[in-house]
Amino acid sequence: MTNQPLLIVVLAAGKGVRMRSSVPKVLHAVAGRSMLAHALATARAAGADNLALVVAPGMEAVRVEAAKVAPGIEVFEQATQAGTGNALLAARPALERHRGDVIVLYADTPLVEAATLRRLIAALDAGAQIAALGFEAPDATGYGRLLLDAKGRVKAICEHNDAGEEERRIGLCNAGAMAFRVPKLAELLSRITNTNAKGEYYLTDVVAIAAADGSITLPARCAPEEALGINSREQLAAAEAVFQNRARRKVMAEGATLVAPETVWLSFDTVIGRDVTIEPNVFFGPGVVVEDGAHIMANCHLVGARIGKGARIGPFARFRPGADIGEKARIGNFVEVKNARFETGAKANHLAYIGDGRVGEGANIGAGTIFCNYDGFNKHFTDVGKGVFVGSNSSLVAPVKIGDGAYIGSGSVITRNVEPDALALERSAQEQRPGWAAKFRTLMGRRKKSA
Ligand code: UD1
Ligand code: CA
Repeated sequence: MTNQPLLIVVLAAGKGVRMRSSVPKVLHAVAGRSMLAHALATARAAGADNLALVVAPGMEAVRVEAAKVAPGIEVFEQATQAGTGNALLAARPALERHRGDVIVLYADTPLVEAATLRRLIAALDAGAQIAALGFEAPDATGYGRLLLDAKGRVKAICEHNDAGEEERRIGLCNAGAMAFRVPKLAELLSRITNTNAKGEYYLTDVVAIAAADGSITLPARCAPEEALGINSREQLAAAEAVFQNRARRKVMAEGATLVAPETVWLSFDTVIGRDVTIEPNVFFGPGVVVEDGAHIMANCHLVGARIGKGARIGPFARFRPGADIGEKARIGNFVEVKNARFETGAKANHLAYIGDGRVGEGANIGAGTIFCNYDGFNKHFTDVGKGVFVGSNSSLVAPVKIGDGAYIGSGSVITRNVEPDALALERSAQEQRPGWAAKFRTLMGRRKKSA
């Protein structure tokens, strides 16, 4: 039975009023990725053969995000936001076409794991027509409650607003995800009414309706952290915290040292190798790979960067997209690297901007060096060869190429290519007046006394 074709429908049409945002709720990010993308990735990982998404009219940005993370996903519009039951029915054409199991997943519960969705399918395999995901909420406010019968089956789901005192005391809450092995699901859904506190068509009512027909709903369970539903900014921050703790534990389990794990911020896709050490207060935006044995000193900020084997970076260094730091390279304090490659053992130890360029093997970039990559209209490339020495406070005005082994005198503004092994120096001749300072001091000292 387990190999039934699986359709997963993600609901994302809700207004998300409680976020107080002009951005649709499901586009708010957890660990550098929208809640919607989390939900779609989970749906994929759970083995969905088909994916469908329900949005509200005008949610163009949501469609764009969905197409980006799940190309080819079928998108349906729910004309008015009349509740989750009505939302699932908006995907009617997909439901009617599909032969097999259906899972509905709310886009505002981004932490639900694929393995948990598979447990819903297992509940269907155990003989149920419907499976509902339950969890023991430390604070159940706002969640629907699963009402179980003596056999441990779900009789009904009661929404918080419609629950009496007694029902509110029930600890088992509805996480939102449900699975169906119901041949005519759309028909069943169309029997849901809106006679409740909110005047909405609740998907959760389907359980009691099906029970009246003799259908069985079984509960599957998950951890409360996983079931966090995000309706407000506070819950968004709570989900972020859950995600971060999971991610930190994972990188430590895989062999990285986090000196103060609670101060390291990871993204959904951060890859950290073995024997990497990460000092306190480091932020990883999306797209970062840190290879084995690298050492990241305190207060670094990285987005879209690769840190090669055994490289040492920071403290206080910034890596923007396309920063590619080679093996045993060294990037020190107050250095910013963007779209630039440091080859093996290359160094920029202090105060530099390296944008749109290459720094060859073993080259040394002195303090205060700037790659002047932008002329106000276009970006240009700076190519620094193997073993080059760039003296402090130099400006390399791109496009420019510094040949292997060349030497740039401190303070130079380099606008033309430099030959390999040459010295390039661009500064006015130094003037020197012997004894001037001593005379100056005597003169000024006298003036001050007589004044
Ligand atoms: C819902 C459940 C509740 C459960 C909780 C878990 C219902 C009736 N209640 O409540 O039992 O404990 O989730 O987090 O299902 N949506 C639409 N169209 C609509 C309304 C909602 O697409 O007309 C989407 C939303 O975008 C959201 C999801 O459905 O992704 C859940 O809607 P929401 O209004 O947040 O439901 P809750 O009140 O949290
Ligand atoms: Ca919700």
